[in-house]
Amino acid sequence: MLISDRLGNIKPSGVRRIFDLARQMKDPINLSIGEPDFDIPEPLKEEGIEWIRRGFNKYTPTQGIPELREKIASHLKKKGVHFEEVMVTAGVTGGLLLATLALINPGDEIIIPDPFFVMYEYQVLLMGGVPVFLDTYPDFRLREEELIKKLTKKTKFIIINSPNNPTGALYPKEDLMKAVRISKERNLLILSDDIYDNFVFDAPSCPCIGQFYENTLTFGGFSKGWGMTGWRLGYAAGPKEILRQMITLQQYTFSSVNSFAQKAAVKALDFDVKSYIEGYKTKRDLIYEGLREKFNVQKPQGAFYIFPEVPGGNAEAFVEKAIQQNLFIVPGSVFSKRNTHVRISFAASEETLLKGIEVLNRIS
Ligand SMILES: Cc1ncc(COP(=O)(O)O)c(C=O)c1O
Repeated sequence: MLISDRLGNIKPSGVRRIFDLARQMKDPINLSIGEPDFDIPEPLKEEGIEWIRRGFNKYTPTQGIPELREKIASHLKKKGVHFEEVMVTAGVTGGLLLATLALINPGDEIIIPDPFFVMYEYQVLLMGGVPVFLDTYPDFRLREEELIKKLTKKTKFIIINSPNNPTGALYPKEDLMKAVRISKERNLLILSDDIYDNFVFDAPSCPCIGQFYENTLTFGGFSKGWGMTGWRLGYAAGPKEILRQMITLQQYTFSSVNSFAQKAAVKALDFDVKSYIEGYKTKRDLIYEGLREKFNVQKPQGAFYIFPEVPGGNAEAFVEKAIQQNLFIVPGSVFSKRNTHVRISFAASEETLLKGIEVLNRIS
């Protein structure tokens, strides 16, 4: 066989299929996209361009340029996140890949609250790990008894993502503390994907695991908060023992990450995106109010997704109906072991959202 056994369980992401379908349509109402609808703020773009012009276009140190690592470290300290070492990664995607490579032995079990960001399942499978899903329906909360039931001698770590893709839920501190208590008792590591930490609508900031537990590997990035998805930049921070291995692995995988984007990111951490977030709060309100009468739906507290249950309970059939009306959304089965909900991204213009709401109500 030409292709490695490792890829036996890996299939293309269901989100991509919807993107590709939408791309073929003339004027789609596209609410399937997982990236902000604003461009990189102008001063940050200028900063990137300036460094390209100055010739900052070569390899950088594997772990990232010192000024960005220092900036990330002081950002995390201000947030009260525990860590010993910081590295710059090729997005959170790159950071997660290094972490799963560094940590997972074949047969290790990884606890993933369901619904979940698709990448977790496949990166775990790629490393020969076993994803163990922890159901969080219907209110997308972490339940202690359920978590305890999932633990075995093979449990290696838990992945927490809050604010969450695809639900828009933000775990309250009390839920995080339950995970921390259980992890402390068993000396378990937690991976905390904080990529949406700028997108919090009803509180000044969100609690994150790294504030309460030393044995946390925190991931953050510039894709969502500053609209830099294509610049591929993120970071990982946590225990020295793990970060050292991840840095070594970065030498043999990515080598180093985007040079000019690192310079711009130094500025990004001081660039206030509050006005963007206010705009997303308005969009959140618009879609929540537009759907709540006909759909069983939780109000998103963060990120830019809403995850309603579909009438009739068959998400894939519902998405087919939506696509026939030129509306592109993603069935929950892409992000979950259940096929009862759909992910709708509200990172779109208000005009597009209004069109989407109209179709959703019409076909429900
Ligand atoms: C929860 C979550 N983590 C990580 C990523 C990937 O982020 P990056 O662009 O930094 O690789 C995404 C992107 O959709 C996401 O939703």
